[in-house]
Amino acid sequence: MEARFEELIEGFVTGNIGISEHFLGLPLAAALHKNLLQLDSDMLMIRAGIGNTLVSDKTQTLRGDKTCWLEAMTKNSAEMEFLDIIDQFIGHLNQTCYTGLTSCEFHYALYEEGKGYAKHKDQFRNHNARKFSMISYLNEDWQEQDGGQLIIHNDTQPELVIFPNNQKAVFFQSDKVVHEVAIAHRPRMSITGWLKN
Ligand code: OGA
Ligand code: MN
Repeated sequence: MEARFEELIEGFVTGNIGISEHFLGLPLAAALHKNLLQLDSDMLMIRAGIGNTLVSDKTQTLRGDKTCWLEAMTKNSAEMEFLDIIDQFIGHLNQTCYTGLTSCEFHYALYEEGKGYAKHKDQFRNHNARKFSMISYLNEDWQEQDGGQLIIHNDTQPELVIFPNNQKAVFFQSDKVVHEVAIAHRPRMSITGWLKN
C-alpha cells in the first residue's frame, strides 16, 4: 500500500492532484461496487444536497448524485478493508507530511445517466474541517464515450481531465481545487470522501 500512498502524495506535491491508477485492487473495487448496487436496489442511495443546506430543485441541477454514507463501525468486510486502508493513509500522511488529520468521512456515490456535478470546491463556506478530498472509482470498462470525467480547473494551466476508471483514486486539497463532474452517459460509481482535522 505504501507505494500507492506515495503515488497520491507525489502527484499532489508536484501538481496539486494525486492519482493512483490501481489504488483499490480489483477484488476490493468489485466488492464495493456490489455493495453500492445493493444499497441502490434497497433504496438507500439518497439524492445528495449541496453544502449543509437543504436539497432544493436548484441544487439538484447542480449536483446529480445519490449517496450513502459509510458507517465507521460497519461490519461489512469490504467497507472495513476500505476504511482500514484510509486509516493507514491518514497515518502515512501525518507521519510524512505533518498533516495533523484526525478523522474521515466517506460515502458511496452514484451518478445515473444524464447526471453530473457543476464546478465547485469541497469545503463548506462556514466549516473548514475538510482538508483533503479523495475519490475512488468503481467502474469496470469505462470508455471515453461514457463521459463522466472529473475535470480539474486551474487558472494557470489547462484543465486536467480524469476518467473514472475502476480502482483509480484521486486526491486533492478540498479548499483549493475547483472541479466538476461531466455528465455521465452510463451509471457512474465511486466512494468519495474527506480527510479531516
Ligand atoms: C464530489 C465530487 C468528483 C468525482 O463528490 O464532491 O466532486 O469524480 N466528486 O466523483
Ligand atoms: Mn467535489
